[in-house]
Amino acid sequence: MSAENGGSIVSILTENRVFPPPPEFAAKSHVSSLEQYESLWNRAKDDPEGFWGEMAQTLQWSKPWEKVLDWNPPFAKWFVGGELNASVNCVDRHAAGPNKDKAAIIWEGEPGEKRVLTYQDLLVEVSRFANVLKGLGVVKGDVVAIYMPMIPELVIAVLACARIGAPHTVVFGGFSAEALAGRIQDCQAKVLVTADGGFRRGKVVPLKENADGAAAVCPSLKAVVVAKRTGHDIAMTAGRDHWWHDLAAKASSDCPAESLDSEHPLYILYTSGSTGKPKGILHTTGGYLLGAALTTKWVFDLKDDDVYFCTADIGWVTGHSYLVYGPLANGATSVMYEGAPNWPDEGRFWKIIQEYKVSILYTAPTAIRAFMKWGEQFPKSYDLSSLRLLGSVGEPINPEAWMWYHRVIGGERCPIVDTWWQTETGSIMIAPMPGATPTIPGSATRPLPGIVPEVVTRDGKPVGVNEGGFLVIKQPWPSMLRTLYGDDERYKSTYWSEVPGCYFTGDGARRDEHGNFWIMGRVDDVLNVAGHRLSTMEVESALVSHPKVAEAAVVGKPDELRGQAISAFVTLETGQEASEALRQELRAHVVKEIGALARPDDIRFTESLPKTRSGKIMRRLLRDVAAGRESSGDTSTLEDLSVLAKLKEEDEV
Ligand code: WT7
Repeated sequence: MSAENGGSIVSILTENRVFPPPPEFAAKSHVSSLEQYESLWNRAKDDPEGFWGEMAQTLQWSKPWEKVLDWNPPFAKWFVGGELNASVNCVDRHAAGPNKDKAAIIWEGEPGEKRVLTYQDLLVEVSRFANVLKGLGVVKGDVVAIYMPMIPELVIAVLACARIGAPHTVVFGGFSAEALAGRIQDCQAKVLVTADGGFRRGKVVPLKENADGAAAVCPSLKAVVVAKRTGHDIAMTAGRDHWWHDLAAKASSDCPAESLDSEHPLYILYTSGSTGKPKGILHTTGGYLLGAALTTKWVFDLKDDDVYFCTADIGWVTGHSYLVYGPLANGATSVMYEGAPNWPDEGRFWKIIQEYKVSILYTAPTAIRAFMKWGEQFPKSYDLSSLRLLGSVGEPINPEAWMWYHRVIGGERCPIVDTWWQTETGSIMIAPMPGATPTIPGSATRPLPGIVPEVVTRDGKPVGVNEGGFLVIKQPWPSMLRTLYGDDERYKSTYWSEVPGCYFTGDGARRDEHGNFWIMGRVDDVLNVAGHRLSTMEVESALVSHPKVAEAAVVGKPDELRGQAISAFVTLETGQEASEALRQELRAHVVKEIGALARPDDIRFTESLPKTRSGKIMRRLLRDVAAGRESSGDTSTLEDLSVLAKLKEEDEV
């Protein structure tokens, strides 16, 4: 367990406020008592295949499966032989029923424009764009990269890919050209869908420019489709680049969906691991969709008349599962907002909630802490009485933020669901069922039915009550990643070799005497900055790729707002002088290599890095230095003790 977890364990242990589901909420919810939850959970544990088979009936299949699970550890196949299409489940089946004219997406642009797409509209647009992709030569199995702002075309592009069986890989619009190129090269995407730009805090994000930078080094790309959003001047490369609206104008809006094998790849989403190269998490169709759909219904207690607002960007898994696939598979109304929460002022989210009468809000602790800092006057000036449920995701939520969320946003009436899961898990794993589970500030509470987590030691032995250990999952589940794209070996070694026979989450946790889980954060070299995973190694390689840098070590340090901030220790090539200018240059270099989210908060220049005799950088010590703590741990393996003392002195150049 890393040192920075120490403090939070202690503070969490003193947390004894428990919030039972409000009776009127429970009375109307899908799962309305702890007994009902427990019997579902036990049923799923005793007969997983029977349970999941029954749950999967809620999806629309074009061909029934023959076998629920084929488990050849660590490779799973779910709903073997079954066929379905995710876009049919998210769009067609609602467009064909009473929800035809119901809003599927209510979109608001940062400058203030509004667009509503009903399920019928969505069907037309998705089908049309699916034909556009086909017209560009995309066939079933080809990968399509998507690098877009949060505009309706992003949802349309995602579902159009699903419709024709072209796995999508969405790359967050905040990533750099280099990061985009690395992802396209890894999955050999054939087409890139982008936009001229996007709006963020009133400024234009130059997406097309970045896309051009990437396309220049990605020979697999045969075409680039550009949606017009900002209208600023961009370069279009003849023969390669096409305007979305030109192609769509010529495409038919009738596109029969492919009947796809349950295990057909739905998407690849890149995420950071503890070693340098991002991992291409592969999700497939049937199991993933079931996980996303079912958990949206359970955890958000979703009803037909809800207006649901997930503030995540579709570039992250939260947006995939809880803005696109989960809500739409349930025929819900999903609110989508393009821009920053503090544009034009700090009341933007609350204005959106008031205007569309949002009933369910799903956001991140880092955002909640920012709202707290901005002050209660912003939420207080809007009518938030439409809200009935609040969700949190991305990192452990500190009890102070939980209580503020409960009081100021939830008016003390809305249950809070703290949802623990990962890009790899595809859908929520540990979270309250809001009509059944008493909630506790700081705890994600209980595993959902069908999910069997445990806290264990390195060799897989369960730890005692309230003892910290590694969080693992003991049984396969439908929305689990199937592999790392193109790298079965890394899939095995990362997730299935650390603790024998179990899925290794990389998180530390403890379980209390009531069976509630308390997530303590990462146990590996993964940072969690504002709810986004970044690997220390990735930032280090970006730094080292600068010609003046000899060696770099990156660690996280506690940050009030973002959970963790990035602290870098850099040694320079001989003859290079440390300076403030160089510090700025290195920051800018990391932004160029990865994106603004990886920008180091502080950079310390040092003559050498603390290493063990075997040459391993002692990150634990660096974490202490970064956090301004005295090193309490063992330094007996440190090769040169003077390095540590110097590091402290060298604090700022
Ligand atoms: C890591 C996964 C899952 C969508 C967003 C992040 C941390 C996530 C919680 C939570 C404590 C959490 C974990 C996890 N995390 N949610 N409710 N409580 N920690 O997805 O980028 O794949 O990151 O985020 O450390 O392993 P991701």
